[in-house]
Amino acid sequence: QLKDNTIIIVLGASGDLAKKKTYPALFGLYKNGFLPRDVHIVGYARTKMDEAEYHKRTTGYIKVPEGDSETQAKVEEFKKLSSYVSGGYEDGPSFDNLNKYLESIESKYQSKERNRVFYLALPPSVFIPVAKNLKEHCYIAKGGINRIIVEKPFGKDTDSCRELLKALKEHWTEDETFRIDHYLGKEMVKNLLVLRFANIAFSSGWDKNSISNVQITFKEPFGTEGRGGYFDEFGIIRDILQNHLLQVLSILTMERPVSFAAEDIRDEKVKVLRAIPPVERSDTLLGQYVAANGKPGYLDDDTVPHNSVCPTYAATTLWIHNPRWEGVPFILKAGKALNEAKVEIRIQYKDVTQGIFKDISRNELVIRIQPSEAVYLKFNTKTPGLYTRALPAEMDLTYKRRFADIHIPEAYESLILDALKGDHSNFVRDDELDVAWKIFTPILHWIDGLSGPRPKPVPYPYGSRGPKELDPFIAKYGYKRSTEGYAWPVTNVS
Ligand code: BG6
Repeated sequence: QLKDNTIIIVLGASGDLAKKKTYPALFGLYKNGFLPRDVHIVGYARTKMDEAEYHKRTTGYIKVPEGDSETQAKVEEFKKLSSYVSGGYEDGPSFDNLNKYLESIESKYQSKERNRVFYLALPPSVFIPVAKNLKEHCYIAKGGINRIIVEKPFGKDTDSCRELLKALKEHWTEDETFRIDHYLGKEMVKNLLVLRFANIAFSSGWDKNSISNVQITFKEPFGTEGRGGYFDEFGIIRDILQNHLLQVLSILTMERPVSFAAEDIRDEKVKVLRAIPPVERSDTLLGQYVAANGKPGYLDDDTVPHNSVCPTYAATTLWIHNPRWEGVPFILKAGKALNEAKVEIRIQYKDVTQGIFKDISRNELVIRIQPSEAVYLKFNTKTPGLYTRALPAEMDLTYKRRFADIHIPEAYESLILDALKGDHSNFVRDDELDVAWKIFTPILHWIDGLSGPRPKPVPYPYGSRGPKELDPFIAKYGYKRSTEGYAWPVTNVS
C-alpha cells in the first residue's frame, strides 16, 4: 500500500471519463479514508482553465445528498488537495513543467519517500507519447514507486494490441502497469470467486454434466447519442464483449486458482481463454438500432457516417474446449438502445429426467451484476396444498433487501484502491489481452470488411428487447424459457 507522500496524476483531467468516473471515485475513496495520508491529486490536460473551472468540472459529478453538510465539507477539503496543470501530450517541455510542479509538492514532504500514480484517462491516439513522456520526464528514478493506470481501448485487434503493448512496455514494466477493465471492479463480478469456490452446493454442478447453456447479457437503454464518432470506429464487440463480458466469462469458467494471488488468478483466466477458439460467423447475430418511439436511430446520429453498418447489438456464442465445459454454449450478448439497463449472468441447468415429471421448468442461477445486485436460483417446489405438482419458485438474495445498510463501492473506487495497494488481481495482464483478441479478431475483421463484403446488421427498434432474430438464436443453443406459471412472488410477510 502506498501510504504517504503519494501524488495521483490524472492525465486527461478535462475529459468525460475523468469527470464522470475518475474524480468521483477518488472522492469516494477520500471521503471514506482510503486515500494515502497527505495525498495530492494533480489534473493534467491540454485545456487551459483556472482552478475554479477545474474544480467545477472535477466535482460536478460527485453526488452530495441534499442537506448533507458533512459530505459537502469533504468536497471542499477534496478540492484543496487537488490542482491543475495544463500542457501538451506530445512535447517533452510540457512534461518537464509537470515534473517541476510535482517536485514543488514533494519538496514539502517530511521524509524522502515519493510515490507517483499516473492515471491515463486519455484517447488512444496519445497513449504512447504520454507513456513515453511520463517515463522520460516525470519518472522517479530512485526512492519511490511509479505506477501507470491505463484504460481501454487496447488496440483494435490482435496485431494492433500487440503493437500497443510493445510500445508501452518500452517504458513501463508489467509490474508498474495496471490495465483497467472496470467490470472487474464491480461487486458482483468480484463475488464470483466466492460464489463459485466457497460453495460446494454450486461448485459441484458447475460443468457440462449439469449446465445446459449460459448467457452473459449487457443491456443499455440509450444509444450512442454524441459518442457516435468513437463508437462507430469500434462497435459493440470491441466496446463490451471482447473486454467486459469476456472478463466475466473467464472468471465464471476458470478452474479454482491455487490462491487469491494476482498471478494465480490470472494464470487460470488465461488458461480457460486459451481453450476458446475464435468465434464463428454462424455463431453470431449482429444488429443496429433504428428510430422508434420518438427516439433516433443509430444512423440519425450526426457523428455517425450515414451508411454505417457498425453493429450496436451483438450476440455471439463461445465454446470452451476443455473437459469441464465441452459442448456448453456461452452466449455473450450486448446492445445499446434497448428496453432496459441490465447486466446479468444466467446459467440454465439441464432438464431433470422426465418420467415422474413432464415439462417442468429448468433450474436457473442468475447473478445480476446491475442494477440492484442479486443472486437468485429458480427451482421447483411442490405446489402448496393438496396437489403434487411442481411449481417454479426462487431463492432470492437481493442485496438491497439482505444488506440494507451497506454501501457498494463504485467499480472505479475499488480498482483505484487496488492500484494504490499494488494488487494486480483485478487488472488485465498482457497475455490475457492477447488471447481475448484472438477470440474476436476474425469476426471483427469480417465485420470491418477485411475478409470480404461487410455483413449487414439486422435492424431493431430503439427501446426494444433487441433484434427479433434473438429468440430463435438463443433457442438454437438449447435455451428453454420457463414453463407457464412462473411469476415473482408477491409476498407480504406480516
Ligand atoms: C464502457 C463502454 O466501457 O462501459 C460504454 O465504453 C458503456 O459504451 C460502459 O456504456 C458501461 O459501463 P457501466 O459501468 O455503466 O455498465
